[in-house]
Amino acid sequence: MMRLLAIYGSPRVKGNSDTMMDFFVKGALEAGAKVEPLYVRRLSFKGCIACGHCDEKGVCSQKDDLNSVYPLLMESDIVAIASPNYFYHLPGQLKSLIDRAQALFMAKKLGLFVPDASKRYGFFLGVGATKGKKLFDCSILTVRYFFEAIGVSYGGELCFREIDEKGAILSHPDYLEACFSAGKTLVGKLLL
Ligand SMILES: Cc1cc2nc3c(=O)[nH]c(=O)nc-3n(C[C@H](O)[C@H](O)[C@H](O)COP(=O)(O)O)c2cc1C
Repeated sequence: MMRLLAIYGSPRVKGNSDTMMDFFVKGALEAGAKVEPLYVRRLSFKGCIACGHCDEKGVCSQKDDLNSVYPLLMESDIVAIASPNYFYHLPGQLKSLIDRAQALFMAKKLGLFVPDASKRYGFFLGVGATKGKKLFDCSILTVRYFFEAIGVSYGGELCFREIDEKGAILSHPDYLEACFSAGKTLVGKLLL
């Protein structure tokens, strides 16, 4: 059974990126995946404190809600992230979760975590209000490097501009259809 970790990265409940992820999840379910939703806004945790513990041990020294997230990041076949654009990047809470993945980067380096990236994929769903060409550049670069750190191959992205008000994405059924297809296709790719 393909396991999808669906990371909902927005602080806004039922916002545009939530809806995009809901459609991605529907597609993945249709293709037969098992889905684990993860709402970053519901987690209580702090950012990386650069204590150096993971440099030696390959695990994080902090005891908080992310302790149960690490195994999901290590074991899911697909890790998808949906996120709004905040100041040309990811929202702080989501970025903090990503910073804490440094522990997995170190675990890999120490040989304590040996993922097979050829059998795992990551996917990014982004949304923002403006239409600048570079709007998603920073988010994508960070997400790419995060995926590399947790041992998943970059499976692609869907980023939509000029979507601002809560629910605005619902006026773009073509965008949501693309999210649905991406979820379905990615699971199908792993089943081949
Ligand atoms: C704190 C904050 C910062 C934002 N910064 C940007 C930005 O730099 N560029 C942009 O295009 N939209 C920006 N936005 C707009 C959001 O990306 C947009 O409303 C998006 O649709 C929200 O997605 P959500 O409903 O999933 O939270 C910002 C919104 C907030 C609340």
